[in-house]
Amino acid sequence: MDRFDIRGGTRLAGRLTVKGSKNAALPLLAAALLTDGPVVLRDVPDLADIRGMFKLLTELGCKVDYTPAESADAAGGVVRIQVTDPTISHARYEIVRTMRASICTLGPMLAKRGSARISLPGGCAIGERPVDLHLRGLSALGADITLDSGDITARTPKANGKAGRLRGARIFLGGPFGSTVLGTANVMCAAVLAEGTTVIECAACEPEIVDLADMLTKMGANIAGAGSPRVTIQGVARLNGVDHRVIPDRIEAGTYMCAALMTNGDITLDNCPADALMAHIDRLQHAGAKFTVDEQMDPMRTLCRVQGAGTRGIQPIEVTTQPHPGFPTDLQAQLLASLTLADGNSVITERIFTERFLHVAELTRMGASIFRQGPTVIVSGVRRLVGAPVMASDLRASACLVLAGLAAEGTTIVNRVYHLDRGYERMEDRLRSLGAQIERVNDKEEVGVAAAQGVG
Ligand code: EPU
Repeated sequence: MDRFDIRGGTRLAGRLTVKGSKNAALPLLAAALLTDGPVVLRDVPDLADIRGMFKLLTELGCKVDYTPAESADAAGGVVRIQVTDPTISHARYEIVRTMRASICTLGPMLAKRGSARISLPGGCAIGERPVDLHLRGLSALGADITLDSGDITARTPKANGKAGRLRGARIFLGGPFGSTVLGTANVMCAAVLAEGTTVIECAACEPEIVDLADMLTKMGANIAGAGSPRVTIQGVARLNGVDHRVIPDRIEAGTYMCAALMTNGDITLDNCPADALMAHIDRLQHAGAKFTVDEQMDPMRTLCRVQGAGTRGIQPIEVTTQPHPGFPTDLQAQLLASLTLADGNSVITERIFTERFLHVAELTRMGASIFRQGPTVIVSGVRRLVGAPVMASDLRASACLVLAGLAAEGTTIVNRVYHLDRGYERMEDRLRSLGAQIERVNDKEEVGVAAAQGVG
C-alpha cells in the first residue's frame, strides 16, 4: 500500500494544467451505452475510478481503448468506446462495491437495452448515499423496478410482448439535501431515448450535468435547460456516436488553489474552469488569496493565477456547502485544511453529506484546533501545524491531509493514498513540480498493521 511522505514548509510556485474532470467523465463514459456508434472522449484523466468504469463497460459488452496522455502536463488521455455486445446488462457487486459511480450505467442501460441489473451501492466513508431519487425518477418514466438479493433490476414497459420504450414524464428530483447529481444524469440519459417529453424539476445544476447534456445533444438528443433546475428533454428514437472533450476538473483546480493559499504560494492553472468555481474563488478571496483570471479566454478553460495571502495571513471565513452554484462539498475538506492556519475562528457547515468530516480528527493530530457539532465545525486558527502520521478513508479528506502536510512543520505521512489515486492523477508529481517535498513510498508494513486492526 502506498503512502506519501511530505516535508512541509515550502511555498508552492509554478504552473499546472488542470486535468479532465473525473466526475464529468464517469457519466459521459456510461452514456456511451446509449449508442451503437463509437464514442470518443478526450481529456480523460488516468485515475483508478476511471479505470474501474472502463472495466465495467467492458463487462457490459463494450470495447474500450484508452490511450493515456503522452505528456504528464496534458489534461488527459483519449478513450474510444464501441458497444459490441448489447445483450449483457448486469453490473456486478464486485465492481459496484469499488466504484459507486457504477450507478451511472443504470439509466443508459435501461433506456437502450430495455433492462438493467445493478448491485445496489452501499454506503461509503462520507455517508449513507441512498439512490432512492434515481429510482423514483426512472419509475416515473415507466420503469418497473424491483430489488432482489441486493440488486436493483429495472425494466422498460412491455410493448407487443417485447421490451418497449420508456415514456416521458414530469419528475421532481429533489430530496432532503437538494437534487442529486448522478440521479439527474441517470434520469437524463434514460429520458433522451424515451417516447415523448420529460421535464426534470429540481435537476442538479452542476457543470458535470451541463457537460453530459452537451455530449448527448451532439449525439442527437434534444435537451433544454441543462445547468438550471428545470431540464426539458424531447425523446428521440436513437443517438449517434460522438467525439467529445471532457470539461476540466473543478475540484482538482480548487484543491491546487487551496494549496496556493495554504503555502502562501503562487500557482498558475491552465485549462482552469474558473466559471464553475465562483463560490470557491469568492471564499478563497475572503480568506486572503489573490486571483488573476484571464477574462479573454473561455471561462471554463481559462488561465488563473492564485497567490497566497502574503504577510496579512489567512483570514477566517464562514462557508456552507450547497448544491452548485453554491460552495461544493468536494472542496470542504481542502478549504477546512487551509483555515486551520487562519488568524481567527472560521465556521464551516456541511449541508450535502452531513457526516463528511473524517479529516477533522486527523487534522487535530497535526495540531489543528477544531470543534465539531453535528454538521458544523468551528476551526480556530493556530500558528502552525506539526507533521504526523495520518490516514483518511475518503478521497477529498485525503487531499485535505496532503495540503495540511505541505504547510506543516516537519514530516507528515499520509497513509493509504489509494483513496487519492481515485481522484487526483499523479498528485505527488504535480506537487513536486511546484516545489513540494513529497515522495510516494510503497509501505508493505502498513498492510500488515491495517489487517491486524481489521481496517479496510
Ligand atoms: N441523495 C439522496 N437520494 C438519492 C441520491 C442522493 O438522498 O437518491 C442525497 C445524498 O445522500 C446527498 C445529496 O443527496 O446528501 C447529494 O448527493 P448526490 O446524489 O448529488 O451525489 P452523487 O451524485 O452520488 C456526486 C459526486 C460526488 C459529490 C456529489 C455532490 C460523482 C461520481 N460523485 O455524487 O463526488 O460529492 O455529487 O456534489 O460525480 C467526490 O468526487 O469526492 C465525490 C464524492
